[in-house]
Amino acid sequence: MNKTIAILLAAGKSERFRNETPKPFLILGGKAIYQYSLSVFETHPEIDEIVFVVPQEMLLVENEKLKKEKRLKTIHLVEGGETRFQSVKNALDHLGANFKLVLIHDAARPFITKDLIDKCIQNLSQNKAVSCAIESTDTLVFANEKGFANSFPDRSKLYRIQTPQAFHLDVLKKGYSLASKEEKTDFTDDGSMISHYNLAPIFLIPGNEKNIKITFPFDLEIAEQILLKKRS
Ligand code: CTP
Ligand code: MG
Repeated sequence: MNKTIAILLAAGKSERFRNETPKPFLILGGKAIYQYSLSVFETHPEIDEIVFVVPQEMLLVENEKLKKEKRLKTIHLVEGGETRFQSVKNALDHLGANFKLVLIHDAARPFITKDLIDKCIQNLSQNKAVSCAIESTDTLVFANEKGFANSFPDRSKLYRIQTPQAFHLDVLKKGYSLASKEEKTDFTDDGSMISHYNLAPIFLIPGNEKNIKITFPFDLEIAEQILLKKRS
Protein backbone atom coordinates (compact mmCIF):
# COMPACT_ATOMS: atom_id res chain seq x y z
CA MET A 1 0.00 0.00 0.00
CA ASN A 2 2.90 2.36 0.63
CA LYS A 3 5.00 1.62 -2.39
CA THR A 4 6.41 4.18 -4.81
CA ILE A 5 6.23 3.64 -8.54
CA ALA A 6 7.98 5.46 -11.38
CA ILE A 7 6.30 5.84 -14.76
CA LEU A 8 8.78 6.32 -17.58
CA LEU A 9 7.20 7.66 -20.76
CA ALA A 10 8.72 6.66 -24.09
CA ALA A 11 5.66 6.21 -26.29
CA GLY A 12 5.59 9.52 -28.17
CA LYS A 13 5.92 9.87 -31.94
CA SER A 14 8.83 12.36 -31.87
CA GLU A 15 7.16 14.41 -34.59
CA ARG A 16 9.31 17.48 -33.96
CA PHE A 17 12.48 15.42 -34.00
CA ARG A 18 11.49 13.96 -37.39
CA ASN A 19 13.16 10.60 -37.18
CA GLU A 20 11.71 7.19 -37.80
CA THR A 21 13.07 5.81 -34.53
CA PRO A 22 11.28 7.48 -31.60
CA LYS A 23 13.77 9.70 -29.75
CA PRO A 24 13.92 7.71 -26.45
CA PHE A 25 15.27 4.80 -28.52
CA LEU A 26 17.99 6.77 -30.31
CA ILE A 27 21.55 6.12 -29.23
CA LEU A 28 23.36 8.59 -26.99
CA GLY A 29 26.87 7.73 -25.82
CA GLY A 30 26.51 4.08 -26.77
CA LYS A 31 23.08 3.33 -25.30
CA ALA A 32 19.44 4.15 -25.89
CA ILE A 33 18.36 7.50 -24.43
CA TYR A 34 15.68 5.89 -22.25
CA GLN A 35 18.28 3.66 -20.57
CA TYR A 36 19.76 6.62 -18.71
CA SER A 37 16.58 7.44 -16.80
CA LEU A 38 15.55 3.79 -16.48
CA SER A 39 18.81 3.04 -14.75
CA VAL A 40 18.52 6.05 -12.37
CA PHE A 41 15.07 4.82 -11.31
CA GLU A 42 16.20 1.23 -11.09
CA THR A 43 19.06 2.04 -8.74
CA HIS A 44 17.14 4.51 -6.59
CA PRO A 45 16.47 2.96 -3.17
CA GLU A 46 13.03 4.53 -2.77
CA ILE A 47 11.58 3.47 -6.10
CA ASP A 48 9.91 0.06 -5.76
CA GLU A 49 8.74 -0.68 -9.28
CA ILE A 50 8.78 0.93 -12.72
CA VAL A 51 6.21 1.17 -15.50
CA PHE A 52 7.94 1.63 -18.82
CA VAL A 53 5.51 2.95 -21.45
CA VAL A 54 6.56 2.23 -25.02
CA PRO A 55 5.06 2.46 -28.52
CA GLN A 56 3.08 -0.59 -29.58
CA GLU A 57 5.71 -1.53 -32.20
CA MET A 58 8.44 -1.65 -29.53
CA LEU A 59 6.59 -3.94 -27.11
CA LEU A 60 7.96 -7.26 -28.36
CA VAL A 61 11.58 -6.25 -28.74
CA GLU A 62 11.69 -4.35 -25.42
CA ASN A 63 10.07 -7.29 -23.67
CA GLU A 64 12.78 -9.59 -25.03
CA LYS A 65 15.48 -7.16 -23.91
CA LEU A 66 14.07 -6.86 -20.39
CA LYS A 67 13.84 -10.64 -20.10
CA LYS A 68 17.44 -11.12 -21.21
CA GLU A 69 19.04 -8.58 -18.89
CA LYS A 70 19.22 -9.09 -15.16
CA ARG A 71 16.96 -6.42 -13.63
CA LEU A 72 17.15 -4.95 -10.16
CA LYS A 73 13.43 -4.21 -10.01
CA THR A 74 10.12 -5.24 -11.51
CA ILE A 75 9.60 -3.34 -14.74
CA HIS A 76 6.10 -3.43 -16.19
CA LEU A 77 6.02 -2.89 -19.91
CA VAL A 78 2.89 -1.03 -21.03
CA GLU A 79 1.69 0.09 -24.43
CA GLY A 80 1.44 3.86 -24.88
CA GLY A 81 -1.47 5.82 -26.28
CA GLU A 82 -2.09 8.49 -28.89
CA THR A 83 -1.33 11.33 -26.46
CA ARG A 84 0.95 11.72 -23.45
CA PHE A 85 -2.21 11.82 -21.33
CA GLN A 86 -3.33 8.45 -22.72
CA SER A 87 0.11 6.95 -22.16
CA VAL A 88 0.08 7.94 -18.48
CA LYS A 89 -3.49 6.67 -18.17
CA ASN A 90 -2.51 3.29 -19.61
CA ALA A 91 0.27 3.11 -17.01
CA LEU A 92 -2.11 4.02 -14.17
CA ASP A 93 -4.69 1.46 -15.33
CA HIS A 94 -1.98 -1.17 -15.08
CA LEU A 95 -1.24 -0.49 -11.39
CA GLY A 96 -2.50 -2.61 -8.52
CA ALA A 97 -3.50 -1.23 -5.13
CA ASN A 98 -0.03 -1.36 -3.57
CA PHE A 99 1.13 2.11 -4.45
CA LYS A 100 0.93 5.40 -2.63
CA LEU A 101 3.33 7.68 -4.51
CA VAL A 102 4.04 8.01 -8.21
CA LEU A 103 6.79 9.78 -10.14
CA ILE A 104 6.31 10.50 -13.83
CA HIS A 105 9.25 11.17 -16.10
CA ASP A 106 9.83 11.80 -19.80
CA ALA A 107 12.25 9.22 -21.16
CA ALA A 108 13.36 11.99 -23.54
CA ARG A 109 15.13 13.59 -20.52
CA PRO A 110 18.18 11.37 -19.99
CA PHE A 111 19.83 13.50 -17.31
CA ILE A 112 17.45 12.97 -14.42
CA THR A 113 19.47 12.57 -11.21
CA LYS A 114 19.08 10.69 -7.95
CA ASP A 115 18.95 14.07 -6.25
CA LEU A 116 15.89 15.22 -8.24
CA ILE A 117 14.08 12.00 -7.32
CA ASP A 118 15.09 12.41 -3.66
CA LYS A 119 13.72 15.96 -3.60
CA CYS A 120 10.44 14.94 -5.28
CA ILE A 121 9.85 12.18 -2.75
CA GLN A 122 10.88 14.29 0.26
CA ASN A 123 8.50 17.06 -0.75
CA LEU A 124 5.58 14.66 -1.11
CA SER A 125 5.49 14.40 2.68
CA GLN A 126 4.11 17.98 2.82
CA ASN A 127 2.49 18.19 -0.62
CA LYS A 128 0.21 16.12 -2.83
CA ALA A 129 1.83 17.27 -6.06
CA VAL A 130 5.39 18.30 -6.84
CA SER A 131 7.05 19.35 -10.06
CA CYS A 132 10.60 20.15 -11.03
CA ALA A 133 10.87 23.56 -12.65
CA ILE A 134 13.63 25.97 -13.64
CA GLU A 135 13.61 29.74 -13.89
CA SER A 136 12.96 31.14 -17.33
CA THR A 137 16.06 32.88 -18.63
CA ASP A 138 14.21 34.15 -21.71
CA THR A 139 11.55 36.82 -21.54
CA LEU A 140 8.24 35.20 -22.48
CA VAL A 141 5.34 36.90 -24.21
CA PHE A 142 1.65 36.25 -24.88
CA ALA A 143 1.10 36.76 -28.60
CA ASN A 144 -2.15 37.49 -30.43
CA GLU A 145 -3.42 35.60 -33.50
CA LYS A 146 -1.87 38.21 -35.79
CA GLY A 147 1.61 37.43 -34.48
CA PHE A 148 2.03 40.58 -32.36
CA ALA A 149 3.26 40.60 -28.78
CA ASN A 150 0.27 41.23 -26.54
CA SER A 151 1.57 41.28 -23.01
CA PHE A 152 4.78 40.52 -21.23
CA PRO A 153 4.38 38.59 -17.97
CA ASP A 154 6.91 39.32 -15.23
CA ARG A 155 9.86 37.03 -15.99
CA SER A 156 10.83 36.70 -12.35
CA LYS A 157 7.60 34.73 -11.76
CA LEU A 158 7.95 32.44 -14.77
CA TYR A 159 9.35 28.93 -14.64
CA ARG A 160 9.81 26.15 -17.15
CA ILE A 161 8.34 22.84 -16.06
CA GLN A 162 10.50 19.74 -16.25
CA THR A 163 9.98 16.17 -15.17
CA PRO A 164 10.06 14.27 -12.87
CA GLN A 165 6.73 15.28 -11.45
CA ALA A 166 5.51 13.44 -8.38
CA PHE A 167 2.07 12.87 -6.90
CA HIS A 168 0.07 11.05 -4.31
CA LEU A 169 -1.44 8.36 -6.49
CA ASP A 170 -5.03 8.89 -5.27
CA VAL A 171 -4.91 12.56 -6.34
CA LEU A 172 -3.41 11.75 -9.73
CA LYS A 173 -5.99 9.02 -10.36
CA LYS A 174 -8.80 11.42 -9.45
CA GLY A 175 -7.49 13.89 -12.03
CA TYR A 176 -7.27 11.23 -14.71
CA SER A 177 -10.77 10.07 -13.96
CA LEU A 178 -12.22 13.62 -14.17
CA ALA A 179 -10.34 14.41 -17.39
CA SER A 180 -11.32 11.10 -18.98
CA LYS A 181 -14.99 11.69 -18.18
CA GLU A 182 -15.01 14.94 -20.10
CA GLU A 183 -12.61 13.57 -22.72
CA LYS A 184 -10.11 16.35 -22.07
CA THR A 185 -6.89 14.62 -22.99
CA ASP A 186 -4.63 17.35 -24.36
CA PHE A 187 -2.64 18.14 -21.20
CA THR A 188 1.10 18.26 -21.94
CA ASP A 189 2.02 17.41 -18.36
CA ASP A 190 0.35 16.06 -15.23
CA GLY A 191 0.83 19.13 -13.06
CA SER A 192 -1.29 21.25 -15.41
CA MET A 193 -4.03 18.61 -15.28
CA ILE A 194 -4.05 18.49 -11.47
CA SER A 195 -4.08 22.28 -11.42
CA HIS A 196 -6.90 22.48 -13.99
CA TYR A 197 -9.17 20.41 -11.70
CA ASN A 198 -7.94 22.26 -8.62
CA LEU A 199 -7.03 18.99 -6.93
CA ALA A 200 -3.83 20.15 -5.23
CA PRO A 201 -1.36 23.02 -5.36
CA ILE A 202 1.71 22.05 -7.38
CA PHE A 203 4.80 22.65 -5.27
CA LEU A 204 7.69 23.68 -7.52
CA ILE A 205 11.14 22.42 -6.67
CA PRO A 206 14.32 23.44 -8.48
CA GLY A 207 14.98 21.27 -11.50
CA ASN A 208 18.29 21.17 -13.24
CA GLU A 209 19.45 23.08 -16.35
CA LYS A 210 21.09 19.89 -17.61
CA ASN A 211 17.85 17.92 -17.33
CA ILE A 212 16.99 18.87 -20.92
CA LYS A 213 14.24 17.32 -22.98
CA ILE A 214 15.36 16.08 -26.35
CA THR A 215 12.84 17.60 -28.72
CA PHE A 216 14.80 18.60 -31.85
CA PRO A 217 17.96 17.03 -33.37
CA PHE A 218 19.98 19.96 -31.99
CA ASP A 219 19.03 18.86 -28.45
CA LEU A 220 20.76 15.55 -29.09
CA GLU A 221 23.96 17.46 -29.92
CA ILE A 222 23.65 19.34 -26.63
CA ALA A 223 23.03 16.05 -24.80
CA GLU A 224 26.21 14.62 -26.32
CA GLN A 225 28.15 17.61 -24.98
CA ILE A 226 26.61 17.26 -21.52
CA LEU A 227 27.51 13.58 -21.51
CA LEU A 228 31.11 14.24 -22.59
CA LYS A 229 31.48 16.72 -19.75
CA LYS A 230 29.97 14.25 -17.26
CA ARG A 231 32.30 11.48 -18.40
CA SER A 232 35.47 13.62 -18.38
N1 CTP B 1 5.04 10.48 -24.70
C1 CTP B 1 4.39 9.27 -24.52
N2 CTP B 1 3.23 9.04 -25.20
C2 CTP B 1 2.71 9.96 -26.04
C3 CTP B 1 3.35 11.22 -26.20
C4 CTP B 1 4.54 11.45 -25.50
O1 CTP B 1 4.85 8.42 -23.76
N3 CTP B 1 1.61 9.66 -26.73
C5 CTP B 1 6.35 10.69 -24.03
C6 CTP B 1 7.49 10.91 -25.04
O2 CTP B 1 8.03 9.66 -25.49
C7 CTP B 1 8.47 11.75 -24.26
C8 CTP B 1 7.59 12.49 -23.24
O3 CTP B 1 6.30 11.87 -23.27
O4 CTP B 1 9.42 10.97 -23.56
C9 CTP B 1 7.49 13.98 -23.54
O5 CTP B 1 6.82 14.20 -24.78
P1 CTP B 1 7.42 14.95 -26.05
O6 CTP B 1 8.74 15.52 -25.77
O7 CTP B 1 6.35 15.82 -26.60
O8 CTP B 1 7.68 13.70 -27.04
P2 CTP B 1 6.90 13.32 -28.36
O9 CTP B 1 5.43 13.50 -28.15
O10 CTP B 1 7.40 11.98 -28.77
O11 CTP B 1 7.47 14.41 -29.38
P3 CTP B 1 6.61 15.34 -30.37
O12 CTP B 1 5.66 16.14 -29.48
O13 CTP B 1 7.62 16.18 -31.06
O14 CTP B 1 5.87 14.41 -31.30
MG1 MG C 1 4.61 15.45 -27.73
